[in-house]
Amino acid sequence: MDYKKYITVVEDYPKEGIRFKDITTLMQNGPAYKEAINEMKEFAKDKNIDVIVGPEARGFVVGCPIAYAMEIGFAPVRKKGKLPRETVDMDYGLEYGEDQLSMHLDSIKPGQRVLITDDLLATGGTIHATVKLVEELGGIVAGLAFLIELDYLNGRGKLAELGEYDIFSLVTFQ
Ligand code: PRP
Repeated sequence: MDYKKYITVVEDYPKEGIRFKDITTLMQNGPAYKEAINEMKEFAKDKNIDVIVGPEARGFVVGCPIAYAMEIGFAPVRKKGKLPRETVDMDYGLEYGEDQLSMHLDSIKPGQRVLITDDLLATGGTIHATVKLVEELGGIVAGLAFLIELDYLNGRGKLAELGEYDIFSLVTFQ
């Protein structure tokens, strides 16, 4: 499927010079959304995944339906202060700013195999912090799946700082 035709590129949002990739138009199309989730699930199917992990908010949009389809659990990565119980926290740099991400301490058991999902791999800052959180909890990152990858921001290079990972993206923008 040509997913690009369902993704809207918004010029100069949230600031001048940024070409924002809006996935809400893909989500509005039931068959396209379903097919995208199915393809990401296909990538994960032979990896013995125990749990899906995704950062808020758009990581939930792809991660939760994949978890549902695979009949496994989903562990959220949230901005600091949003999770009510004991957490592990990680600083990260965003495409536009800085923040801290958290996961519940009991959200991954040591040795569990994890699929990390998000809508977008841009600079890789969010996913770099997510991988560190998962590994700090003892999880094994068995794969990473994205709807969109912005090749020119070299998120893969950022991830390579941490190790060698199996990365899948449905749509690449050069
Ligand atoms: C966006 C996007 C990814 C991240 C990608 O999330 O959903 O999580 O940025 O950028 P990076 O690779 O440069 O880190 P954002 O933090 O804007 O939050 P949202 O999903 O809640 O809008």
